[in-house]
Amino acid sequence: MSAKRLIVFDSGFGGLSVVSALRRRQIGGRLYYVADHAGFPYGALDDEAVVARVLATIEAAVEDEEGAPDAVVIACSTASTLALPALRARWEFPVVGVVPALKPAARDTKSGLVSALVTAGTARRRYLRDLIEEHAAGADVTIAAAPNLAAMAEAFIRGEDLSSDALAREIAPAFVERDGARTDVVALGCTHYPLLLDQLVQAAPWPVTWIDPAEAIARRVADVAGALYEAEAAEGVLRSTAPPAL
Ligand code: DGL
Repeated sequence: MSAKRLIVFDSGFGGLSVVSALRRRQIGGRLYYVADHAGFPYGALDDEAVVARVLATIEAAVEDEEGAPDAVVIACSTASTLALPALRARWEFPVVGVVPALKPAARDTKSGLVSALVTAGTARRRYLRDLIEEHAAGADVTIAAAPNLAAMAEAFIRGEDLSSDALAREIAPAFVERDGARTDVVALGCTHYPLLLDQLVQAAPWPVTWIDPAEAIARRVADVAGALYEAEAAEGVLRSTAPPAL
């Protein structure tokens, strides 16, 4: 089977945390990483602007000389909570999105206090409330908006110094103490945040379990790759018995 072409999209460098998870699963044969730095940070944009920018950026990537991809990964929670229906209506290839990993967060908490650390945009979304209701109803979930944390991760990737005080201020709303209980699980609801995991661990007022959404999205992409592989085999176009490589 020829290597599949995969487009991975984010507003900036955050999607690289998803690329690492894809590579760990040996997914990503011909991977094309697209970042909309001109629109960054998406957390500060209004809803229409986010959808328009994602559609235009994917359109440009699809129309480049390499042709249509086999699948697109929207490695950005802020974009996924809004733009997936429009992307799926526009193109036939599979579009995989990422959302804060609240299901495992609710499963893993002992104290019952869980936080979703997200961009200001994601914090406003109905989508997030529905996700909490559907997958984390048993936990007491705090939506903690971190308006500058994605930009801090971008700066860090560019080699700039991070202020530990500023970092502590950004994550403070995710740390709740109530009736003798403390937050013990924080779902990283933006793909930029795992890029700062070591710094987050240092800045946290007490130890918690941090949940990176990248593993779940990589699993989903592996399922999509498997389905494409089976479809090719059924059509008789599969020429090798190699495992699926999307
Ligand atoms: N990486 C992003 C996310 O997963 C977006 C950061 C931003 O552009 O504000 O939400």
